[in-house]
Amino acid sequence: MSLDRTEFEPALQPLNRARSMPAGFYTDPAIFKAERDNLFLKHWFFLTRAEELPNPGDYRAFDTPGGPIVLIRGNDGHLRAFANYCRHRGSILLEGTGNVGGRITCPYHAWSYLNDGRLYGCPDMKDAEGFDKVENGLVALDLDQWEGFVFARFTKDGPTLLDHLGDFPDRMASHKLGDMRCTWKITLDVACNWKLILENAVETYHTGIVHKNTVGAQQSRTLATKGNWITIQVISGRSIATLTDEIPPFDPISGLDDDARMGTYFTVIFPTVQFAVAQDCLWWLNTIPIAENRTRLEVGGCFPESRLTLPDFATRAEPYYDRWERVAKEDVGILEKQQRALGSALYKPGPLSWRDDMVQAMGVWVVDRLRL
Ligand code: FES
Ligand SMILES: [Fe+2]
Repeated sequence: MSLDRTEFEPALQPLNRARSMPAGFYTDPAIFKAERDNLFLKHWFFLTRAEELPNPGDYRAFDTPGGPIVLIRGNDGHLRAFANYCRHRGSILLEGTGNVGGRITCPYHAWSYLNDGRLYGCPDMKDAEGFDKVENGLVALDLDQWEGFVFARFTKDGPTLLDHLGDFPDRMASHKLGDMRCTWKITLDVACNWKLILENAVETYHTGIVHKNTVGAQQSRTLATKGNWITIQVISGRSIATLTDEIPPFDPISGLDDDARMGTYFTVIFPTVQFAVAQDCLWWLNTIPIAENRTRLEVGGCFPESRLTLPDFATRAEPYYDRWERVAKEDVGILEKQQRALGSALYKPGPLSWRDDMVQAMGVWVVDRLRL
């Protein structure tokens, strides 16, 4: 497809007349490249919770659409994010997770960096003209946190994280999300475009079918938002984060406001993450776009810190982990079918239901930022 906005016009009409996005929105490398340049390199994206790296020297490497980065806690206690490459000739510095102590040493020629990014050791460089150690520290990304949720950005330009989040913090105030602690994660490699995962995560049209053996049919309402996020709320007076018919194993968060008591918020914080916020917990679907038809999906689960000290915490948490994994895998199964179908030479975008309103909103947000 061409990157011409007219190709998207049928998808941008009022919902009752709108079509789905053209197939190329999910299959075209040129669209993926435009997303990289205009979305992923320009906006805040979620990494993890701060408590995952509690000690100086703790690090975690991430692959992102802007290349490998590493999140690391310095001796001064501050978290920082850097491009994960050596300033000599560009080897990856760190893989996976771990603790480097005070220094990161390059595996290639052993340049070393302090855990705050400053270049420390660079053997045999005394003849290099104009070489200045101060200018050859690791290249930093912008980093910010909201209530312990860590976000990074490849540019210094644009709104603060708080401005990006708009009225998300107000809507979530009574959940006291700063008390949340991540206790569980899984990563799935998914053969579909990243947007399909998030579109699916803000509609309940599919739940009675795809999830008939797990969460089943759900009713939801759409709530108005300000800022770079959208949400539906699945209506249920009890947490839907477990599948059991019995009372959920953890008590609701105390002091929830009237709206929050009504159900679970299934949000998308643009561009790449869902926070699902229930009465007793939070889980995220963090999409890491790899290619137009490949996404790494991290599902992470959090509970209020006070729950973690309950003697039977692990037993009580088990049904939540089970539900998050089973439902995520059910979604992955249908989304991979959808991606394959989008490759049809005969694909024609279909009409939308009123229940697809946030599916459309997700696509509109992206198209509006692709500079088509
Ligand atoms: S590439 Fe890192 S020391 Fe040479
Ligand atoms: Fe689903």
